[in-house]
Amino acid sequence: MFSKVFTCALNGLDGYLVQVEADISNGIPAFDIVGLAGTPVKEARERVKAAINNSGYRFPMRRITINLAPADTRKDGSGFDLPVALGVLISAGEIPQNSLDEYMVIGELALDGSIRRCSGLLCKAIAARELGFKKLMVPFDNSSEVSVVKELEIYPVGKLSDAVNHFRGNNPIEVLPPKEISISQRNVYQYDFADVKGQKNAKRALEVAASGGHNLIMIGSPGSGKTMLAKRLPSILPDLTFDESLEVTKIYSVLGLMPKDSPIITERPFRAPHHTVSSVSLVGGGSNPKPGEVSLAHHGVLFLDEIPEFPRRNLDVLRQPIEDGIANISRINATVTYPCRFMLVAAANPCKCGYYGDPTRVCNCTFRDAENYLARLSGPLMDRIDIQIRVPAVKYDDLENDRKEESSEEIKKRVNKARKIQHERYKKVGIYCNAHLSGPMLREFCKLDKDSKKLLRASFDKLNLSARAHDRILKVARTIADLEESEIIHSRYISEAIQYRTLDRTIRG
Ligand SMILES: Nc1ncnc2c1ncn2[C@@H]1O[C@H](COP(=O)(O)OP(=O)(O)OP(=O)(O)O)[C@@H](O)[C@H]1O
Ligand SMILES: [Mg+2]
Repeated sequence: MFSKVFTCALNGLDGYLVQVEADISNGIPAFDIVGLAGTPVKEARERVKAAINNSGYRFPMRRITINLAPADTRKDGSGFDLPVALGVLISAGEIPQNSLDEYMVIGELALDGSIRRCSGLLCKAIAARELGFKKLMVPFDNSSEVSVVKELEIYPVGKLSDAVNHFRGNNPIEVLPPKEISISQRNVYQYDFADVKGQKNAKRALEVAASGGHNLIMIGSPGSGKTMLAKRLPSILPDLTFDESLEVTKIYSVLGLMPKDSPIITERPFRAPHHTVSSVSLVGGGSNPKPGEVSLAHHGVLFLDEIPEFPRRNLDVLRQPIEDGIANISRINATVTYPCRFMLVAAANPCKCGYYGDPTRVCNCTFRDAENYLARLSGPLMDRIDIQIRVPAVKYDDLENDRKEESSEEIKKRVNKARKIQHERYKKVGIYCNAHLSGPMLREFCKLDKDSKKLLRASFDKLNLSARAHDRILKVARTIADLEESEIIHSRYISEAIQYRTLDRTIRG
């Protein structure tokens, strides 16, 4: 007897239809799975056999062939167990033929017949809807994750026997009610700028960076609060839109990182990989391609602490993802892409021991040592960092002061306003923030008044700035003007933007 059950496999974040065909014929008992099945799928045989037997059904001792169509794409992951088991049971006559025709089915089986959660369910549920399915059967533990997908009847199932009874019409499973995501579920950031005492300049630089989407580097001695500041950056970025939340959630879902009780990620991600991270973990890859840290930071912040300690080749591989907003992973038979639009925030000590230029600590590094330490950063990655600041140690007076510091909520209001101005201005050119301004756009949108031109020319000659630094100053000045709601870039905005080129002024010329 022959049967067919529909399920789904992933290519990147996109799901595509897989038909599980099961055939039972006479012959020497065997159980084969064909159709470019990866190791976890091949292992499904043992799980399916045990799960069927332990659920009170008889596993047919005949010749069973499972084909996963299309046969030319490699299938990985464990979500195929349940469709394979149901296919076998239909072919064995345990479940009526055609009762699964309208369903897409996904689930991993435990040996006792219970159904375990799988990864990538959100992407698969979205694919099911796009493929025109009306009904989706998923593991009970994944139900929260898929509950946000509308126009789809979702049947959460905990045991193989429950699924069988449902399709026999004995004990139908209730459809999961769709979940509405309310705004009140948003914005619960763990870290707030109100905790950071003093550091007025650094906070201002972070506000400018958040407003224009600029990448940023902070240089300062240990304990000056660089990590503390970076962790608070997501809390002042504009709220994620629903579509952005879905995009982020898809990535976490593919990696199986979704919390059980939370349907969707509403906070901007903050990822801080250690400098010993491999390039595969950073940008994604592997024999069974997975998204890397850059994609986990999608729509959020990628924080590279101690950036001079990262191997140069790892910093170089970041270039293309930063530029394109997508990570391309080439495999032998396909290229997989994952989105990765993030704000890069880096931190560095000023020298190897960390205390160069600190008035309170002894440092044996020479000027040349300090220069060499930071010179490791020069190159393609630094070209993509608009704001470079020094973070001095917090003053004792500030630390002891009981004055209430501004909260993230208040800063975010200003950021939102500046972003709105940019959205309006760039509607026609297809970018959404100042950091993405290209050369010709800079000339069109960054109009300087006479004084600003004069100041920029004078600084250019005096500080020996490069053409690259010139463009970055213009972009940042544009953001500062937007924060002030000014269309014209006045000279005070230019001078503030020049303050944010610390490294150019000291080592890079
Ligand atoms: N401005 C500040 N207000 C309140 N606490 C601060 C401030 N700056 C630093 N601290 C305290 O000092 C601790 C160390 O700061 P943090 O880890 O951010 O320093 P860092 O610059 O990242 O140091 P390192 O270079 O060693 O990584 C913080 O956890 C915080 O408790
Ligand atoms: Mg730190």
